[in-house]
Amino acid sequence: MKLKAIGSISVLILILFVLSCQSEENLEFERYYSNGAVVYQAHCQNCHGANGEGLSALIPPLTDSVFLKNNKNALACYVKFGLKGQISIKGKTFDDAMPANDLSPMEVAQVLTFAGNSFGNKLNTIDIQQVEAGLGKCK
Ligand code: HEC
Repeated sequence: MKLKAIGSISVLILILFVLSCQSEENLEFERYYSNGAVVYQAHCQNCHGANGEGLSALIPPLTDSVFLKNNKNALACYVKFGLKGQISIKGKTFDDAMPANDLSPMEVAQVLTFAGNSFGNKLNTIDIQQVEAGLGKCK
């Protein structure tokens, strides 16, 4: 009887522990995402649009989840230092230039978490550690 009670209490503690870890992760995601929305409006929206729809043949949309996923580690470089040359997004070719953005690594992480989880994308949190690692490998 006593053992059973201890058993249920341990299970309860375990469940609470798992739940609190999850909400810690969710909170971190929410913080990155909501700050990222502000960075996006100030630095990206003019070109990429409020819904990441891009601008005709000039500016690619941010809705190509496959491209974003395949280039996840390079996204920080694109945002921080700009991007030029031909790319294929959603089956269309774009060949314009994105200027460099004067953003801190934290702002890059926030805006990538926002764009990476909006417009139909699901990249989860792109945190500052991932961005700093990515920026260290820019070509
Ligand atoms: C002055 C316009 C402009 C601004 C501002 C701008 N971009 Fe871009 N962006 C472009 C263009 C043009 C390209 C395509 C470059 C090419 O053809 O190589 C691009 C490409 C991209 C790509 C890769 C292609 C794609 O569509 O997925 C990402 C990701 C991206 N931009 C994210 C951002 C983010 C995040 C911001 C804000 C921090 C931003 N851009 C600000 C013009 C802009």
